[in-house]
Amino acid sequence: LSDITPFPKSGGPGLIPVDLGERSYDIHVGDGLLARAGEIVEAVAGARRVIVVSDSTVAGLHLEALDAALDAHALDRAPSILLPPGEGTKSFAALETLLDALFKRGIDRHSVILAFGGGVIGDLAGFAAAVALRGLDFIQIPTTLLAQVDSSVGGKTGINAKAGKNLVGSFHQPLAVIADCGVLRTLPPREMRAGYAEVVKYALIDRPGFFSWLEENGAAVLAGEAGALAEAVAVSCHAKAVIVAEDERESGRRALLNLGHTFAHALEAENGYDSRLLHGEAVSIGMVLAHRLSARLGLCPETDAALVEAHLRRAGLPVDLSAHPHLRDPDRLMAHMARDKKARNGRLVFILSHGIGQAFIAPDIDPADARGVLAEMAGA
Ligand SMILES: NC(=O)c1ccc[n+]([C@@H]2O[C@H](COP(=O)([O-])OP(=O)(O)OC[C@H]3O[C@@H](n4cnc5c(N)ncnc54)[C@H](O)[C@@H]3O)[C@@H](O)[C@H]2O)c1
Ligand SMILES: [Zn+2]
Repeated sequence: LSDITPFPKSGGPGLIPVDLGERSYDIHVGDGLLARAGEIVEAVAGARRVIVVSDSTVAGLHLEALDAALDAHALDRAPSILLPPGEGTKSFAALETLLDALFKRGIDRHSVILAFGGGVIGDLAGFAAAVALRGLDFIQIPTTLLAQVDSSVGGKTGINAKAGKNLVGSFHQPLAVIADCGVLRTLPPREMRAGYAEVVKYALIDRPGFFSWLEENGAAVLAGEAGALAEAVAVSCHAKAVIVAEDERESGRRALLNLGHTFAHALEAENGYDSRLLHGEAVSIGMVLAHRLSARLGLCPETDAALVEAHLRRAGLPVDLSAHPHLRDPDRLMAHMARDKKARNGRLVFILSHGIGQAFIAPDIDPADARGVLAEMAGA
């Protein structure tokens, strides 16, 4: 099936090009790639000073391996900078700490930052790279499934503000992405499943063949089987790369990547962003709601909506609010949606679907219909 073939003819195995003119770069995907990080960094960054930024959990597990790979290539290195793990690190305070640490290490405009961690480190270090000395190069070395298939690709970087998540940021594309699926073996299963929700998202947007493949191989992906996992990461990166290349700054088609996210953001806001609901878990519930809303409007066959739900449930992801009684008030969720960046004149922008792999942008949804599917799920 052509839509599961990840590698375009121009790339070698495990190499996915992101076509953005002079900002183009490659995503390297494979098991054991960390051992080749020195070679890849040297190839894209040359003889420049490199500085690893990571969180203490990731550093404890994998920094030794990255250090060994970089030192084998005798790269000019400044001491690594470690930050506490967790969403709290995407803050103004942590940005200041990071920038001060970078300046203390004497960075200049040719220094290259290596963002080694999950989406939190990627977003923060990428943003620091965007603003330090008016722009430094950086390389993403993502270590969560979510970061490998989503946050490290596409150039969105940033931090949270008091008024909301990801409100301060910049588009800043990396020089390369190095996604070693082997590092995912230490990732807690719940984080793995949360990242898997975003993998399913790409299938549901425009890759029905990939959805069939995931029906067969999803369990192997979640179990961390090397071949299946690398394939899923590569197809996902390719799917995102194609959409980002068409619409780098989200003036149109890139909005498809928000499938399930209008509902998810409302659930996360209502939940107060604590660990009872991970982002990927909210996206799973949100994708179920988006397909139910599509079916309710007569746009998508009920059978496809049911398939989506069954797949996510089998993956161990939440598909309803049964474990989350505190998120069951449809009016509170609607209020969050009305405040969403994407709401316009009281109507809501949703990503809906005509069926598996046929998502589209629906710019003018009656809030009463969205409330309807929320109320139905809350009652279930
Ligand atoms: N820039 C984008 O386009 C984009 C897209 C999606 C999400 N995001 C952002 O990404 C963030 C979430 O990313 P995340 O889910 O990777 O969270 P995260 O970075 O907080 O990582 C989750 C947890 O896993 C730990 N961890 C990371 N790698 C590990 C490994 N290999 N083994 C064991 N533990 C490991 C981390 O220390 C952390 O505690 C959010 O802030 C979200 O806004 C950004
Ligand atoms: Zn997401």
